[in-house]
Amino acid sequence: MTVTAVSAPGAKLELPPLKLGPLTIDVPVVLAPMAGITNKAFRRLCREYGGGLYVAEMVTSRALVERNRESMRIISHDEDESVRSVQLYGVDPKTVGAAVRMLVEEDRADHIDLNFGCPVPKVTRRGGGSALPWKTDLFTAIVQAATREAARGNIPLTVKMRKGIDEDHLTFLEAGRIARDAGVAAVALHGRTTSQFYSGQADWNAIAELREALPDIPVLGNGDIWSAEDAVRMVEQTGVDGVVVGRGCQGRPWLFGDLQAAFEGAGRRFRPGLKEVADSFYRHAELLVDYFEDEDKALRDIRKHVAWYFKGYTVGGELRAALAAVPTLEVLRGLLDQLDPHAPYPGADAEGPRGRAGTPKRPALPDGWLNSRELDENHRAMIAAAELDVSGG
Ligand SMILES: Cc1cc2nc3c(=O)[nH]c(=O)nc-3n(C[C@H](O)[C@H](O)[C@H](O)COP(=O)(O)O)c2cc1C
Repeated sequence: MTVTAVSAPGAKLELPPLKLGPLTIDVPVVLAPMAGITNKAFRRLCREYGGGLYVAEMVTSRALVERNRESMRIISHDEDESVRSVQLYGVDPKTVGAAVRMLVEEDRADHIDLNFGCPVPKVTRRGGGSALPWKTDLFTAIVQAATREAARGNIPLTVKMRKGIDEDHLTFLEAGRIARDAGVAAVALHGRTTSQFYSGQADWNAIAELREALPDIPVLGNGDIWSAEDAVRMVEQTGVDGVVVGRGCQGRPWLFGDLQAAFEGAGRRFRPGLKEVADSFYRHAELLVDYFEDEDKALRDIRKHVAWYFKGYTVGGELRAALAAVPTLEVLRGLLDQLDPHAPYPGADAEGPRGRAGTPKRPALPDGWLNSRELDENHRAMIAAAELDVSGG
C-alpha cells in the first residue's frame, strides 16, 4: 500500500522533460545514488510515488568487471524499471571503460553515471572520487573511455561531481567542460567541496554558474533539497534542467510524489500519518528481504532507516530502540502494531534535513596531489591500486 496525498498550497513550476541522449525522463527529478540506500528495494518504493530517474548505488568498476556477487546484485533492476540506471566508481580509464563495455554488451543498463563526488577519506586518499577531477588528464581519460564505450550502445553517460577539493581548489567548471567535450549526456553538480563533506549548505550559486557555463547540455543540481518547495527554488535560482535528491528522501520515498506534483504545478503533497509511515517501513523491510534473499541481512539493513522514517513522529524511546535492533519481519510486525494508528502527520518536525551531516575536515589526499593538475609517475602507480575495497559516496 502507498501513502495518500493531501492537497496543500504548494510552489508551482513547469519544467520540460529531461533529455538524456535518447532517453526522455518525464519528471526532471533524479534519485541520487546513495551507497547502502538506493538499492532495488528502495528504488521501487520511490518509483511508486512519482516519475524520474532512479539511480542505483555506486558500484566499483573493478568489482563489476570481476563479476563480484555483491556488485552484480547492486546493478540488478526490477523488470518494470523502465530506465535501468547504474553508477560506476572508478579511477582507471581501462577498468572504467571495461565496466561500461560490459554493461552495454550485456544489455544491463539504459543509463550510466560516473561518480566523481565521493568525499570518503579512504577513496580520496588514493586519488579517487571527488579528488579525481583535480587531475585533468586522468579525469579526461576516464570520461572519454566511458563515453566511447557507452556510445557503442547508444547509452547516455553522465557524470556527477562536487565543486572541487576545497574553495582554493575548485574543479567543477573545468571538469564540466571536459565532460561536455567528451560527449556526456548531462552533468550533475553537488554544491559542496570535498572538505565540506556533508556539512554547511550546498552552494547553489556554483550550480547556477555551471548551468551558465554549459549551455549546450543539461545540468542537474544537487544538494539540500528537503522538499518539493526546495526543488522548485533550486530550479528558479539556478536554471538547472533537473534536480538530484539524496538525503531528503531517506525515510520518505513519497517525496517523489511531492516532487512530481510540484513540477506539474499541482499542490498535492504527501503528509502521512504514523500508520502509513509504519506500513511503508514494513514494506521496505519486506522488499529488502527479497533483494538480499536473506531475512537477517535485510533486517539489519532496515535498522538504519528507523530514525529517518519516524523523524518527528511520536514513537517512544523504548519502541524506537527495539525497532533499531529488530531481528525478524515477525518481530517488526509486532513492534509496528504497538504504534498509535491514529497519530497524524506531525508537520514541520517530520520535515527538514536528515541523514549525514558532519563537520568540515581537511580532505585526505595522496602526498603532493595538489602540486600539479597532472598525474606524475608515483600517482599513476598508486591510482592503479585505488579501486579496491570502496563503498559509499
Ligand atoms: C548514505 C549516502 C551514500 C551516498 N552514496 C553515494 C554514491 O554511491 N554515489 C554518489 O555519487 N554519491 C553518493 N552520495 C552523495 C549523494 O548522491 C548526494 O550527492 C549528496 O547526498 C548530496 O545530496 P543531498 O543534499 O540531496 O543529500 C551518498 C550520500 C549519502 C548520504
